Amino acid sequence: MRLKAIAAAVLVAGLGVGVAIAAEDGTHDARSALMKKVGGAAGAMAAIAKGEKPYDAAVVKASLTTISETAKVFPDQFKPGTEKGDKAASPKIWEDPADFKARADKLSADADKLLAQLPADAAGVGAAMKTLGANCGACHEKFRIKTE
Ligand code: HEC
Repeated sequence: MRLKAIAAAVLVAGLGVGVAIAAEDGTHDARSALMKKVGGAAGAMAAIAKGEKPYDAAVVKASLTTISETAKVFPDQFKPGTEKGDKAASPKIWEDPADFKARADKLSADADKLLAQLPADAAGVGAAMKTLGANCGACHEKFRIKTE
């Protein structure tokens, strides 16, 4: 079980890197690849919180690290002049880039805080997901356009 979870985490990480290399900066594909990495990491933690997977400190640590590092570089994908052709990214990102960046920074900072005091069991991971999830939802509501 434990090995399976690690293998899955490694696989997800590997796929993320492959997609990121294939996509050009500032495109929907590049942005989408980064957010899929964040989504994969959050999914791995949610599975532990829900009891679908056993608690595994290594998976929690890897997931939080992925979220922290990805949130730090995500706003770089929204430079001025790259607003065209991405139906999922709201024009509001380019109207208020400071707020967008502040929200990404907040997610990264929250993940860093959790890394410094790693959730020690499934209930702790559940509480961590609430903290992190508030960031996801708030930013999506303001800056993401649902395309499906
Ligand atoms: C700073 C704002 C921001 C934060 C914080 C944020 N997101 Fe996103 N997210 C976006 C934007 C913008 C998009 C659309 C990107 C695009 O496709 O151009 C997106 C898209 C996504 C997608 C769809 C990717 C795809 O193309 O299939 C997923 C999944 C996702 N986010 C998960 C998360 C999760 C989970 C969190 C929290 C742990 C999170 N996001 C936090 C802004 C944010």
